[in-house]
Amino acid sequence: MDEDTGAAAPAGEPRDRGLEGLLAALPLGVLVVGAQGRVHAQNDAARAAFGLSGPAAFADVFPRSSPDAPPFAVRRADEAAPEPVEVVGRDADGTTFPVEVTVSPGPRPGTSLVLTRDLRGAARAEAELRRQRGLTELLLESTTDGFLGTDREGQVLFANTAVRRLLRQRASDLVGRPLAQVGRRPADATLPDGPALSDVLDGSGEGAGGGRAVLWDRYGTPLSVQVAVSPLITGEEVVGSVLTVRDATEQERVEELKRQFTAVVSHELRTPLTAIKASLRLVTSGVLGPLPEEPARLLRIADENADRLAALVNDILDVERLDAGTMPLEPEDVDLADLARAGVEQLESTAVAAGVELVLGEVGPARVHADPHRIAQALTNLVGNAVKFSEAGGRVEVTCRRTAREARLAVRDEGRGIPHDQLEAVFDRFRQVYASDAQRQSGSGLGLAITKGIVERSGGRVELRSRPNEGSEFTVVLPLTDAEEDAPPPEP
Ligand SMILES: Nc1ncnc2c1ncn2[C@@H]1O[C@H](COP(=O)(O)OP(=O)(O)OP(=O)(O)O)[C@@H](O)[C@H]1O
Ligand SMILES: [Mg+2]
Repeated sequence: MDEDTGAAAPAGEPRDRGLEGLLAALPLGVLVVGAQGRVHAQNDAARAAFGLSGPAAFADVFPRSSPDAPPFAVRRADEAAPEPVEVVGRDADGTTFPVEVTVSPGPRPGTSLVLTRDLRGAARAEAELRRQRGLTELLLESTTDGFLGTDREGQVLFANTAVRRLLRQRASDLVGRPLAQVGRRPADATLPDGPALSDVLDGSGEGAGGGRAVLWDRYGTPLSVQVAVSPLITGEEVVGSVLTVRDATEQERVEELKRQFTAVVSHELRTPLTAIKASLRLVTSGVLGPLPEEPARLLRIADENADRLAALVNDILDVERLDAGTMPLEPEDVDLADLARAGVEQLESTAVAAGVELVLGEVGPARVHADPHRIAQALTNLVGNAVKFSEAGGRVEVTCRRTAREARLAVRDEGRGIPHDQLEAVFDRFRQVYASDAQRQSGSGLGLAITKGIVERSGGRVELRSRPNEGSEFTVVLPLTDAEEDAPPPEP
């Protein structure tokens, strides 16, 4: 290392040649700066980077970024911990370039030791990568969602601040542990347990999925969380999983309130409705004496509307029960063909009133294990829709057939059809393709949600094919009780 001014080794001490050699070979620039901002000494790398040949002022090497910015030279080494900062350096021809510098106290009082890293070229890219990595880490740490990363064996690789806060645990309590131990129920807990994180991960199939889990924090308090799992991928390879963990306490409280509200409201509505209907029936039946025509007509309207209201209340209750998994189903061995016949018969008069031809098409035996009343309810919804969304003069056909493994109960119409982008959405509750659909026999958009719920809870699915202006075909598909052995699996 060159000594331009008084930075020489104290008289009498031999110069350490080994250390000099090391300083010369170092890829980092090393500068010793005096209190006056003079560069007292520099190594080869610094000389090369800044084009220094003789004594220099620090301010020449590190120009101010703007006329009123404080000169870098006055940054005192003892100000703070020596953190690298990126600044602008200048070489002998006045070209500026990015440099990373670390300032720490120099070898003698009043001097500073400045380490510089030329960030031109590869070093620049590396610094950028580090910056990006820092940014990613910052993001991960700042988000309010908990993040847990695991390797392929389910060992925790990282746990961000949010997840540590949720579990009231330190990183060292989580990182390196198997996921099965994270938020595990304490042995002495008295409260009932729920699914653990590792259960959600195991159930996530091809590495993506999610669900609810119960986590126990450091002090043994359970916490309900919503977990989303996605595969951790580098290049083409799945190297582990990322779990996003979110506190679900509030969400559960709202869901519970909603459940209670619907249950109470529907019950409270049902009782007076029954009374209203009974009274109306009594009056309209003529038992209390004949009625003039106009009051009789008005009472009939009241009676019909009481029926609609009762149907709506029942639908809302059904949706809630399907959601909560509490809909009572009494499955038995039934032939879907019988249900198809009964359904057509039952809706005959509705179809006639709408001027729609309702026919029983090809119907063959297809035995399934399901609750006949609920499947009939599903079929009624489908046939009801088909009639409702057909023009007068249209035709609706119900068929029943079987494949090797499945029973297929289909309702086909030639009505207005369903737009392609709504084929899935129509099964959502309260979903109607057109706002005016609510006016058609006061539909509320619950029928298909209930139909899908019933069929899926019976182990089947509802298929829909439809083209605008050509018609729709809804098919209830259920597993046969007498499926042919070694039949090929059904196509998805
Ligand atoms: N066969 C069909 N043809 C055309 N559109 C249909 C058909 N079936 C359903 N839809 C569309 O899907 C929507 C949802 O149907 P869904 O049965 O859930 O509700 P809804 O019939 O309007 O009311 P609800 O069944 O509760 O009385 C309908 O409003 C309609 O827009
Ligand atoms: Mg409907």
